[in-house]
Amino acid sequence: MSVSLHPVVKASDELKDLLNKAIAREIQVSIQYMWQHVQVMGVKAVAVQDKFKQTAIAEMKHAEKIAERLWYLEGTPTTKPAPIEVGKSLKEFLEFDTKAEVEAIEMYRKIIELATKEKDVTTAFMFKEILEEEEEHHDLFTTMLEEV
Ligand SMILES: [Fe+2]
Ligand SMILES: [Fe+2]
Repeated sequence: MSVSLHPVVKASDELKDLLNKAIAREIQVSIQYMWQHVQVMGVKAVAVQDKFKQTAIAEMKHAEKIAERLWYLEGTPTTKPAPIEVGKSLKEFLEFDTKAEVEAIEMYRKIIELATKEKDVTTAFMFKEILEEEEEHHDLFTTMLEEV
C-alpha cells in the first residue's frame, strides 16, 4: 500500500499567493504597531501605548498561523513585509492603522471566498477567526481616532 505524503487539500497558486500577501501584511502591521508603541509621545501616550503593543503581538500570531498553513499547503512563507507606515503623530498613526485594517478585512474576505470555492474549509475557517480580530482592531483604531 502506498500512501500520499502530500496534503489532502490542494491549494491553487492563486490562493497560496494570497496567503503570502496576507503574511507580508501581517509582518508589516506587527512592526508598524510595535514601533508606534515605542514612538508614541505626549499625555495621551499612557492610555494608548499598550494597545499598540498588544495589537502588534496579535498580528505576529496571525503571521505565524498563516505561515503554518501555507507551509502545510506546500508554499514558502515570505519574510518581506508590505510597506510599513508608522506616521509622525498619534493621529497619523491611527489613520495608517485604520487603513491597514481595512485592507486586511478586504483581503481576508477574498481569501475566505476563494478557499471556500476550493473546498479548503480549514483555511476559510482560520481566516474567519482572523477576520473577526481584524474587525476588532478596526473598531479599536477608529474609536481611538475619535479621541485624538
Ligand atoms: Fe492580523
Ligand atoms: Fe489587525
